Amino acid sequence: MFTHKDLAQLQAKSLKMQGFIRQQTFSPENEKTLRRFSSWEVAELIFKANQSTLRGRLSADPSLPQGQVEEDGRQRWYTLEEINELRRRIKVNRKSLMPPRPAGKRAIRAAIANFKGGAGKSTVALHFAHAAALDGYRVLAVDFDPQATLSHSMGLSDVAEEYTVWGIMARDLANETDRMNAATTGAESGTALPRRSLPASITDMGLSDLRASDFIKPTNWPTIDIVPSCANAAFVEFASAQYRHMNPEWSFFAAVSRFLDQLAPDAYDIILFDCPPAIGYQSMNAVFAADVLYIPSGPGYWEYDSTTSFIGQLSEALEDLSRFNGLVPAGTMTLPKAFLDLRFLLTRFESGNELHRAMQSAFGKVFGERLAEHPIEMTRAVEQSGRFLSSIYEIDYRDMTRETWRRARASFDRAYEEFKGNLAAAWDKLEDEA
Ligand SMILES: Nc1ncnc2c1ncn2[C@@H]1O[C@H](COP(=O)(O)OP(=O)(O)O)[C@@H](O)[C@H]1O
Ligand SMILES: [Mg+2]
Repeated sequence: MFTHKDLAQLQAKSLKMQGFIRQQTFSPENEKTLRRFSSWEVAELIFKANQSTLRGRLSADPSLPQGQVEEDGRQRWYTLEEINELRRRIKVNRKSLMPPRPAGKRAIRAAIANFKGGAGKSTVALHFAHAAALDGYRVLAVDFDPQATLSHSMGLSDVAEEYTVWGIMARDLANETDRMNAATTGAESGTALPRRSLPASITDMGLSDLRASDFIKPTNWPTIDIVPSCANAAFVEFASAQYRHMNPEWSFFAAVSRFLDQLAPDAYDIILFDCPPAIGYQSMNAVFAADVLYIPSGPGYWEYDSTTSFIGQLSEALEDLSRFNGLVPAGTMTLPKAFLDLRFLLTRFESGNELHRAMQSAFGKVFGERLAEHPIEMTRAVEQSGRFLSSIYEIDYRDMTRETWRRARASFDRAYEEFKGNLAAAWDKLEDEA
């Protein structure tokens, strides 16, 4: 027979091995850094301009960043900072290279959510973040998944648990409870509502003193920041249930939304959420904070099944929130939650696979316009990129045949361009910042 003691013993053994693997993978020389991009990539893939046009601009103005010549001697290689400086300073065909952003609006927020582990959520989130950054956008990623795939893939491996979504939720609980207490005291006039009190374990953490920006960390990409996660944050679901008990009127699902509202509206352009493979407190926070919902799904039968039950359960969970109507100050949020756009996105798609094509057409019949037109194709380079995901944008095309790399990149590019178009339409509908 086995008890918790056996499990603890097994875990102790496993932790030793984990420590060993970490040492191997997190040694300083393995720190994730961002490569440079060749003039071919900068001109054709990033600026979508002629190589000779770019060369002309660069030789006409020696004060522009000139990149670095690598061993092969033919190409110049640019850092993302240099690419962004070029983007700000040059025009092609009299057109600015800056990406479009509607004036007077805050950043647009998109959640990548589904239940199933392995649906491709983190892969999609990583690729959209990188594609958007190469497109000139400033991106904030929020990792809601304690498996921390996205955080690790973005170079963050050593995160303290209070600086994760859990910290944001606990801080929100403390602040909201204070606000509610102040409101009842302020209303005085004999109302004898009990003051809600929180245990010292929460009030003593000093979370209320943290600024919103304290939760945000830089990544290995200069224009991508992240609210990271870590394995220790796995107890959040547990803790959140207790928090709700301490203050049943706390609108727990809006904690991250309120957190994001505290950021300067123009600090970022696009905010992307990578969700855990379950509906719970964290994924409800992600979904509630999102303007746009993207639901990735693999192209198999069982994945179709699980996507179907995901939208059913999400629907119920969102409907359930209407209980909070009237509990939050007027004007701070609207229930029921309404998304500006909602799409399904097929991932790990192989166009040569008959089953995949059949499933694509089934998804199309059922979801119609809600199915993104361009699926993300199965890409060996991404699948085999190691313990931490690397995006096709990070992988150097000289490490494989250029045609293979191009094809893989083209698939992610098409999906990103469609995503960008959908975001742009949603952004236009988003209310202006007051
Ligand atoms: N388009 C793709 N091509 C190849 N492998 C993929 C692709 N999308 C996901 N994978 C692989 O599938 C696994 C699960 O993907 P991931 O994005 O981590 O899923 P989730 O975040 O939904 O659990 C990863 O090992 C990843 O490398
Ligand atoms: Mg994931």
